[in-house]
Parts: sequence; structure tokens; C-alpha cells
Amino acid sequence: MSRAARKLDHIHHALSTGQSQTHGFEDIRFVHNSIPELSVNDVDLTSKIGELKLSSPIFINAMTGGGGDDTRSINQQLAEVAQECGIGMAVGSQMAAIRNTEERKSYEVVREMHPNGIIFANLGSEATADQAKDAIDMLEASALQIHVNVIQELVMPEGDRDFTNTLKRIEEINREIDVPLIVKEVGYGMNKNTAGQLESVGVKIVDVGGFGGTNFSKIENERRVRKLRYFDDWGIETTSSIIEVTKGDQNLSIISSGGLQSALDITKSIALGASATGFAGYFLKILMGSGQQALIDEINEMHEDLKMLMTALNSKTLNQLQGVPLVISGKTRDWCEQRGIK
Ligand code: FNR
Repeated sequence: MSRAARKLDHIHHALSTGQSQTHGFEDIRFVHNSIPELSVNDVDLTSKIGELKLSSPIFINAMTGGGGDDTRSINQQLAEVAQECGIGMAVGSQMAAIRNTEERKSYEVVREMHPNGIIFANLGSEATADQAKDAIDMLEASALQIHVNVIQELVMPEGDRDFTNTLKRIEEINREIDVPLIVKEVGYGMNKNTAGQLESVGVKIVDVGGFGGTNFSKIENERRVRKLRYFDDWGIETTSSIIEVTKGDQNLSIISSGGLQSALDITKSIALGASATGFAGYFLKILMGSGQQALIDEINEMHEDLKMLMTALNSKTLNQLQGVPLVISGKTRDWCEQRGIK
């Protein structure tokens, strides 16, 4: 199967396996405050990850790898949405365009449509530093995402089987590029030890990519004869993963992703310590099912809802939201207790 056909298969299966919403946000409850001294109009949604300034914590996460006309079309539509809503956007893996220059236009269209926007380049952790520089140049990217996706590779019939020297390659890429590096998971979450390893090689931003949304084990198992079902329920839920990284010894900027679907999920993510939030499967489903305008409306409503929620929580800025009191119950509390995280 060609790379482009495999990626189309991903989109099809991502939409049909659905978003399980077992991300842990249901375990987080805010402590209501009856006297917030704040006006909705004064709420400020700007954020920062590492040195990167964002006008909104919401961004469209990586989805369109593989190249081909479908990649180009989806990239163009997503970039137009990002431009219209004033949010950032990541592209899917650019490896196809690095190996075949014909494919570059499927990615370059993103910068054309979103000329002054925040755009993240994307490659897997098998990439070399030169490939990373090429991916960044292709988009005049604001940052580079390197995805780590061991479980997806293991379940993928034609996936990688050798994961040695990953940290070394990440370190080298980080040293060679001149934009911020984001290391991201794709739906299995990150633990505090992983965050520590990444910080030790100079990484400053991680996207926890937690369990509970798009499930790549289920997606890849659809394409296997002998299914590896034991990976279908594998990974750290998004809430627990944010807590692993924030409560560890690290001083990393955190992006929350994995199953996010609402302004309330964003608010809870930030309150747990994240600085930005990535949406993949949920946005793709709206785009493919209801069209571009529906996705624009959804994002605009999320911005409005976020201001409402922040007002209720007496938080004028995302920085203030990061400190609001909350109560954690259920499996997220169990996770924290057994992991010794306070
Ligand atoms: C993805 N994702 C992804 N991530 C990445 O770093 N490079 C990639 O090429 C892709 N490709 C891709 C295709 C499709 C169709 C989907 C749905 C997703 C993973 C994505 O960025 C995100 O980490 C996970 O999907 C979890 O977030 P959601 O979908 O639960 O919001």
C-alpha cells in the first residue's frame, strides 16, 4: 500500500472508530467561585509555549501526512480555517514531501493560505537533522513537531521495529534547528520519566498526546489480519499525563491533546498546567462531515465559551487559570495516588 493510500485509510478509520472520550476530563471538577471580579470582555486568550506566542491556546494538530491530492485538499481547507479563526496549525508528517519533491506543494499550500500564522512542521523521530531543517523551510514553520508513536508503529503491519537511538536523534535535531522543538505523542500519553529524558536533551515543549481520543491501535488493527488487541486499551489518559508532566521535576511547556472536544476540556487542560491545546480527530470529523464553515463556527464558539468559563473561574489570563482550585476524582485520582503524584 502506498504511503498516500495508507494515510487516507487512517482518515477513514479515524472517523469510523470514533473518539472514545475516555480522556479523564470527567474526573476534574472546578471549585465554584461566587464572586469573580471580572468582565467577559476583559478575558485574554493569548498564550505562550516556550518562546512561542499564540493568540489562542487552540490549534489544529497534525493530521495530513502521506502526500497526494487529498492531503493537499485537507491541508488547504484546514489552513483556511486556521487563518479565519486566528489559530495555529500543525501539518501531518512531511516525510513524503522530503522523499519526493513533487509532494511539497501539498504542504506549501498551508503557508500560502495562512501567511502570517503559527504553523508547525511535523516529522517522526526517525528523521535526521537535515530532514528536520528541510521540513521547517518547506513551511517557513514557527516550530517543529517530532512525533513519537511506538505503539502505532508496532501495530502497523509495515511499521518500524527498531526504536534505538531515538533520544539521540531528538537531541541532534534540537541542536541543529533554529525554531522551537515540540516532542509529541499521538494518543498514548507521556509519563514524567519521558518528560525528564526529553528535558535532559534540551527539549522545552511537549505535547502529551494522551489516551482517550483517536486510538491508533484500533485504527491500525483494522488493517491487520492478526489483531494486536492488547494495545487497544494502552496508554496514559490525557488528564493523568498532563499531571505526570506538570507535577514532575521538569520545567516544560505543556500542550494538552488526546480526545479534546470542547472549551471545558481546554479549560480543564490549562487548569491542570497546560499552555495550549491540540485538536485532531474531532476537528477532522467536523470538517469531513459538516464542512469548513461548520468547523469555523465550532472554533469561534469555543473561543466564546472559553471566555465564559474563564470569567466564572475569575481568570483574566491563561496564566491565572493555571492556578485555579479543582478537585480530582475517579481514575485520574487513582492514577495520581499510585504514581505518588501530589
Ligand atoms: C494523526 N496524528 C498525527 N500526528 C503526527 O504527529 N503526525 C501525523 O502525520 C499524524 N497523522 C494523523 C492522521 C489522522 C487522520 C489523525 C486523526 C491523527 C495524531 C494527532 O496529531 C493526535 O496526536 C492524535 O490524533 C490524538 O489527538 P485527537 O485526535 O484525540 O484530538
